[in-house]
Amino acid sequence: MASNIVWHPLTVTKAHRQKRNGHRSFVLWFTGLSGSGKSTLANEVDRKLFTLGAKSYVLDGDNVRHGLNKGLGFSKEDRVENIRRVGEVAKLFVDSGQIVLTTFISPFREDRRAVRNLFEQSEFIEIYVKCPLEVCEKRDPKGLYKKARKGEIRDFTGIDSPYEIPETPELVIDTSLYSLDDAVATVIRYLIKQQLI
Ligand code: ADX
Repeated sequence: MASNIVWHPLTVTKAHRQKRNGHRSFVLWFTGLSGSGKSTLANEVDRKLFTLGAKSYVLDGDNVRHGLNKGLGFSKEDRVENIRRVGEVAKLFVDSGQIVLTTFISPFREDRRAVRNLFEQSEFIEIYVKCPLEVCEKRDPKGLYKKARKGEIRDFTGIDSPYEIPETPELVIDTSLYSLDDAVATVIRYLIKQQLI
């Protein structure tokens, strides 16, 4: 832990920024297996929010691993650090008055809980993007399941690395049952009902 560093309070508060933006700021934390549809869904929700005039941004697992989290792999420790950093970045976005959508497998309950604990209760919305492993494997958009089955990738989530199903997410969206349009509408309806947008 760094010493001799004191938190500097900002004059323009989160509440001021939310008021100007005309909506609350919060995290939509999409979690689920690779290929479950996290990025597709988050991207469409973001597009919808954008057309509604909201300030929103997607932090995408694969993209963040090209920059901020370049150098982190898929061991337990690296995944913990991946999620910890993303949680902190999400917190900055929420402090800045914006809506942030994150799409990380985030397979460990404990890590998701730690991120949740960074926020006020209404600010963290966990969305379990549910999809049976067989369906994800059949979709295999990046050909990674095939490689994992052949043993060319180790520690692949769902194959030889665990995914801990969320126990009490705010929303569950089964992408093997519902269309993308229905899924987006469900998320937007939830946000309106909670008076977040
Ligand atoms: S997390 O477990 O640390 O949350 P993250 O969402 O950042 O994972 O990255 C997952 C993406 O990395 C997958 O969608 C997939 O494209 C790619 N990937 C590469 N290797 C693995 C692996 N061993 N397990 C899971 N995903 C992997």
